[in-house]
Amino acid sequence: MEKKVIYSAVQPTSQLTLGNYLGAVNNWLKIQDDEQNDCIFAVADLHSLTIRRAPEEVESRTLSLLAQFLAFGLDEKKNVIYVQSHVAAHTRLAWILNCYTYVGEMARMTQFKDKSAKHADNVNMGLMDYPVLMAADILLYDTNLVPVGVDQLQHLEITRDIAIRFNNIYGETFKVPEALLGRAGAKIMSLSDPLAKMSKSDPNPMGRINVLDSEADIVKKFKRAVTDSEAVIAYDPEKKPGVSNLLTILAAVEGVTPEQAAAECEGMMYGHLKLRVADAVAAMLKPVRENYAALMGDKAYLLDMARRGAEKAAARADKTLARASKAVGLLVD
Ligand code: TYM
Repeated sequence: MEKKVIYSAVQPTSQLTLGNYLGAVNNWLKIQDDEQNDCIFAVADLHSLTIRRAPEEVESRTLSLLAQFLAFGLDEKKNVIYVQSHVAAHTRLAWILNCYTYVGEMARMTQFKDKSAKHADNVNMGLMDYPVLMAADILLYDTNLVPVGVDQLQHLEITRDIAIRFNNIYGETFKVPEALLGRAGAKIMSLSDPLAKMSKSDPNPMGRINVLDSEADIVKKFKRAVTDSEAVIAYDPEKKPGVSNLLTILAAVEGVTPEQAAAECEGMMYGHLKLRVADAVAAMLKPVRENYAALMGDKAYLLDMARRGAEKAAARADKTLARASKAVGLLVD
């Protein structure tokens, strides 16, 4: 049986949050253990340039994210792990795809609208073109499935549209990928505002748990999580977004449904629930913190691993790039 290609990436914008972990990376860990899967995971450093950052920050965060990937338990032997900018085919395919993507489509993207409102002084072309680069990332590897959180679904939809459009003009060139959402945890909300997603860029640090937070910080942040005044534990995201978010987190950590987590915690005081969730999260992240510290001490190893990963990725990506280049009439040698 042919293996399924699974592709995903994360931007090295800051430390990963519990949202990234439960929404994306936690699923990758299960996926990598299935021998039927052929997994490719990238640090999307080019995407992170769409917001102005200090060069030292881009560099250190890229290295840190590679270390976080390994600290979570992603295994270099089971997956291809690499840095996006190390594989030139990404930007080259993105250019070709740009010529099959409409300005109107990009201007309508929710994330583009949000980010251009937030960074009104720097609405650059990269910010608008971001989904096309993401489409190139995915299509280069003949990807079947893309494990992401809910916030990336629109980008995945446009990837499919672009692939189908291209295939309709030039014949079967790209595999049309599908999104893979985790059972629970596909959308973790902020602890300080349960109506907004937990985000790396949230200006309120109390709203997000970073995967490398100390146990004390994790407990402190959960203790202050916004709930409601009802004092009843139930899973009802519309009426009780704060409590439901806590139950979603607990469920994702324990591998059960939020309803099961609610049944398990029935009758608890909110304070007790918060501690229960904090303890579960802290226990899950403890080994991550420990592994991370050791990995960051060996920069040479991380760089070596990235180089090996990029070689493997490039060998595959170049084939797809050649196919697409030939399709549009570029001279391919
Ligand atoms: P990024 O770096 O913003 O987020 C990485 C992954 O984490 C998920 N995520 C969440 N899941 C649940 N709850 C949340 N609060 C939450 N916040 C983030 C995201 O859905 C994502 O899966 N454009 C992408 C990176 C990218 C990519 C790709 C992904 C570049 N190329 C190709 C897949 C395939 C991004 O900015 O993700």
